Amino acid sequence: MVSPNEWIKDTAIYQPGKPLEEVKRELGLTEVIKMASNENPWGCSKEVWSKGVSHPEDTPFYPEGAAPDLTEKIAEHIETDPSRILLGNGTDEIVKMLAQVYLKPGKNAIMADFTFPRYEMVTKMTGADIVKVPLSDGCHDLKEMENRINADTQIVWICNPNNPTGTIVDRVTIESFLERIPPHVLVVMDEAYQEYVTHPDYPDTIALIDYNPQVIALRTFSKIYGLASFRIGYAVAHPSVIQMLNRVRDPFNTNRYAQSAALHALTDQTFVLYCRNQNRLGMKQITSQLEKWDLSYYPSQANFILIHTGFAGDDVFNHLLRAGIIVRSGQVLGYPTSIRVTIGTKEQNELFLQAFAAFLKEKGKI
Ligand SMILES: Cc1ncc(COP(=O)(O)O)c(C=O)c1O
Repeated sequence: MVSPNEWIKDTAIYQPGKPLEEVKRELGLTEVIKMASNENPWGCSKEVWSKGVSHPEDTPFYPEGAAPDLTEKIAEHIETDPSRILLGNGTDEIVKMLAQVYLKPGKNAIMADFTFPRYEMVTKMTGADIVKVPLSDGCHDLKEMENRINADTQIVWICNPNNPTGTIVDRVTIESFLERIPPHVLVVMDEAYQEYVTHPDYPDTIALIDYNPQVIALRTFSKIYGLASFRIGYAVAHPSVIQMLNRVRDPFNTNRYAQSAALHALTDQTFVLYCRNQNRLGMKQITSQLEKWDLSYYPSQANFILIHTGFAGDDVFNHLLRAGIIVRSGQVLGYPTSIRVTIGTKEQNELFLQAFAAFLKEKGKI
């Protein structure tokens, strides 16, 4: 038997949120609400389907690998130069490409404990060392991350807002961090939830990149744009970083349907604004009830919230599952007595709160 690389054997398989279809099948339910993977409960912009997702007659042909039309449109939207943009088959793919380009055995990457698990997985895949820095009250501890940087550090992963806590690193903190750290370190700002943020101190990473070649921002069409099934996201970075990433990019990594869906989605910023506003209202709907129940949570700027339930996360998860509501148990996210819940529509949030109330009543908490 051919033996795989040692570091691959040790790499865990990614555990996604439970899919709707699986839960319906297993529990024999017809109505199931998924509040587990931070997807958009309002779907995507009508423009995506009304304008048509690519042309059926183009199906036999490979797409344009570098997606020039979409690249141009994104550049215009975020006010940067197209040479600073690279598209990926979801930002997941770009996270992996970054590891391929910049990590190898003997080097290391620094990340928060706890954060989006893909950083750890892709780092492991390259054989590089993982340096984990505990969150401080749910937030990235940039001082400690800076202390852990050494001559072999290649990447610092910063998830902003952080998944699973939803907390943000503010502009002043990131700017002073960047002033102090050595130039050989790439700082990856994963901004998958950027469009949901309403906090005035959230950094303008695109502007930071203009004069700081060691910063890279990751954005996605999977979240507020509601295009998760198309798998498309992008990186914004100095052209020298983009050129390196292009060397490991699969030739046709984003398909033509995803490219045209994203192009149409970008034209409808009214939809984006609507979702951001609805998300804030939904967040308030949930947090005001949590406060009445005296349950704590991290202040989230994203479209999910980590709730400290005081009970085993798996128990809460299973109770909600039986009621047809899929959330994420904190036990797989590093928070054994928490659950992570994606903000849904008003009706979905209400159903979640009712099912959660039944659990808390059963346990004598309320
Ligand atoms: C922080 C973070 N980054 C990246 C991703 C992956 O996004 P994409 O669908 O673009 O691969 C997710 C998805 O949940 C995420 O939470």
